[in-house]
Amino acid sequence: MISSSPPRRRLRAAVVALATAVLPATALVLSTGSSEAAASTLGAAAAQTGRYYGAAISAGHLNDSTYVSTWQNEYNGVTPENEMKWDATEPSRNSFSYGNADRIVSLARGRGMTIRGHTLLWHAQQPGWVSGLSGSDLRSAMLNHVTQVATHYRGQIYAWDVVNEAFADGNGGGRRDSNLQRTGNDWIEAAFRAARSADPNAKLCYNDYNTDGVNAKSTGIYNMVADFKNRGVPIDCVGFQSHLSSSSNMSSYQSNLQRFANLGVDVQITELDVGGSGSGQANVFGQVTQACMAVSRCTGITTWGVTDKYSWRAGDTPLLFDGNFNKKQDYTSVLNALNSGGGGNPGGGTGLLRSASSTRCLDVPGSSTTAGTQLQIWDCHGQTNQQWVRTSSNELTVYTGSSVRCLDTANGGTSAGTAAVIANCNGGNNQKWNSNSSGTITNVQSGLCLDVNNAATANGSTVIVWTCNGQTNQQWAGPTS
Ligand code: G3I
Repeated sequence: MISSSPPRRRLRAAVVALATAVLPATALVLSTGSSEAAASTLGAAAAQTGRYYGAAISAGHLNDSTYVSTWQNEYNGVTPENEMKWDATEPSRNSFSYGNADRIVSLARGRGMTIRGHTLLWHAQQPGWVSGLSGSDLRSAMLNHVTQVATHYRGQIYAWDVVNEAFADGNGGGRRDSNLQRTGNDWIEAAFRAARSADPNAKLCYNDYNTDGVNAKSTGIYNMVADFKNRGVPIDCVGFQSHLSSSSNMSSYQSNLQRFANLGVDVQITELDVGGSGSGQANVFGQVTQACMAVSRCTGITTWGVTDKYSWRAGDTPLLFDGNFNKKQDYTSVLNALNSGGGGNPGGGTGLLRSASSTRCLDVPGSSTTAGTQLQIWDCHGQTNQQWVRTSSNELTVYTGSSVRCLDTANGGTSAGTAAVIANCNGGNNQKWNSNSSGTITNVQSGLCLDVNNAATANGSTVIVWTCNGQTNQQWAGPTS
């Protein structure tokens, strides 16, 4: 549902009401502002709603320190612009080359960024050797490529563009002719199944352009996604490239995102750029941002570059930073739209994590921000050391801005009994947690359950990970609001 009031503000109002009701006046020490203040960077503003704001980054420009610092200071996500494509990663058959992509991934992981992989299969930017293949030989080369690349990055990629641009433009709504299509109409689902086997935790997306509204092409893709969902083909998300201009018709942009979300997939804006200048350009950037924020399954936005200087369509000056890395009017439009909040946290909620056995809450002792601090349960009071955000990457974070920390196991440990701690976010599977319908919260790396040690229920009881056993000290409610 679209709400006019940002979720953070609603949450704070609820917290204040709760605190007023149950705490003595002397205990009313709610921090002022940090969780509801407008964030000052794109990434921080998006993160407050559980989303990411990323940029396509090109390895060839990593020697430009202003480019790197603008990306790292402003964004919390990345897509390698060309470095993960087939020509870059498999220049000769079954010989793989990951150097440039790994450089970008490593920089991004060092900052806990959300990484989109782009792209496993596309009719363009194929290596020369592929042009000599067809039929079953091409099919097996294609699936080997998917398997090898997705395996190389297993556990590091938030979402893969498994297949890019497989639909034709125009009014037909059908597939594009390509060498891949000529291996058989089932090539897309075969690719998705191979990707799922290689990296079960990555979200698997179909990605395309000219899909920025309800039209014949987007409807063709919609029908494919509906069919995949009906038949159990593994697909998790749809990417909308959104190469736009000031004069783009935005009338059905949001409703188009929503109809895909209603199929049970996430949606992402994957290659946003808007040709133009001034307020016309800024308005379109703002509309795209507002649309994503209004769709709870819209998990993030990526602009196709950082600066007009290095854009693939530099003549259109289509990005948020000009050629000198100055913020444009577009930047303010986007930041304001991000800060005005959205319709729900796509990751699955913000708020308290209440233990079923004690009805006490997961709590950082003493409101510490020190990495390695073991978590405890404590009376629920709703202060910031009990406010957990499930991010679109399945992290559980506490605090905001530069204080943000991730729920982790001590030193990334995977054995039963390892302390549950806060740590600096690093994007690793030891910091990803699945909330299960049984109420358990399982660590993606170890499969162990978040557990109140010794099934204790008193204030100050410590929290660990332990073999899942179905007991109530492993059941948690939230974060839900
Ligand atoms: O790096 C070489 C350089 O050594 C060489 O001298 C030069 C000569 O032209 O080419 C350079 O490579 C270029 C590469 O970008 C890196 O700049 C390629 O020619 C050029 O074709 C390539 O263009 C990329 C394009 O995809 C290829 O189709 C763009 O950077 C990239 O932004 C663009 O991205 C695509 C998405 O993947 C899919 N959606 C559309 C989007 C825009 O076209």
